Amino acid sequence: EVWNPNGKYRVISTKSMPGTRWINLLVEQDCRVEICTQKKTILSVEDIVTLIGDRCDGVIGQLTEDWGETLFSALSRAGGKAFSNMAVGYNNVDVNAANKYGVAVGNTPGVLTETTAELAASLSVAAARRIVEADEFMRAGLYDGWLPHLFVGNLLKGQTVGVIGAGRIGSAYARMMVEGFKMNLIYYDLYQATRLEKFVTAYGAFLKANGEKPVTWKRAASMDEVLREADVISLHPILDKTTYHLVNKESLSRMKKEAILINCSRGPVIDEVALVEHLKENPMFRVGLDVFEDEPFMKPGLADLKNAIVVPHIASASKWTREGMATLAALNVLGKIKGYPIWSDPNR
Ligand code: DGY
Repeated sequence: EVWNPNGKYRVISTKSMPGTRWINLLVEQDCRVEICTQKKTILSVEDIVTLIGDRCDGVIGQLTEDWGETLFSALSRAGGKAFSNMAVGYNNVDVNAANKYGVAVGNTPGVLTETTAELAASLSVAAARRIVEADEFMRAGLYDGWLPHLFVGNLLKGQTVGVIGAGRIGSAYARMMVEGFKMNLIYYDLYQATRLEKFVTAYGAFLKANGEKPVTWKRAASMDEVLREADVISLHPILDKTTYHLVNKESLSRMKKEAILINCSRGPVIDEVALVEHLKENPMFRVGLDVFEDEPFMKPGLADLKNAIVVPHIASASKWTREGMATLAALNVLGKIKGYPIWSDPNR
């Protein structure tokens, strides 16, 4: 699909993206926009090299693509200056290789913060209240009347929510769980989440003033403290060498037997084989997973477990957010081509 065929700058999007604002922005600024229409969900490096061809000024790519040495050298040979991931995470991008070939890299933070946090919160509630299991039960025609023990789950109010990685998304999630469900907070991050702490303090004071038990917060000195103390744990770190298999057999064994673990960050943050074992051995332990170690696959056994809720990497999938991500990605590429400072450079 080609827009503005006579445009001066050739910009490629490896996928069709929601909305038209991003296309209009590029077209108005004299870009020829080419959208790859290949049916295949995940493009290979070779597919993208072919797309780039002999002349290309910038590319908007996806988190499923391997943006390393081969692609950045191909883009640079074609005269390209800019690449933007349509994602906030950029573990699929070798930023050093991009620097080496003089290609600027952008990502799309901000517009997906609340959307992603909302999914993490939804999975937390769904796991605590066994919503998916109960839905399956109803559809299977098994409901034959109210029972005191039927799908008894956990009350979140008064329990402790643990956040590992209190950046933009982790903090938004924490705020939702504290304010929405009156949970106490424990978080672990290398940096202090000052705004989040102020929020929980003020909210606690508000509850107290209204005669309710105030919520509390604590910044954990180690990740272990969160694992041991929290009832619901949500993972929000970036994926790099230091966070690969951050949750493994050993860390799982430190969590409460009835804890809930949520992951809307990146799959390899959890050792999924160890997780499957842990779920089998501890039927009261529950997980809500949006991401998987070897997407699009799940490790054997995971799909059969009633104590796991699995969804296909949809945390940022709201219309507004996806259009915003596409627009931000287009602005990143356009900014570089036109010589404006790139908006969302993860190098900064
Ligand atoms: C991201 O942006 O990194 C998400 O995984 C997809 O929205």
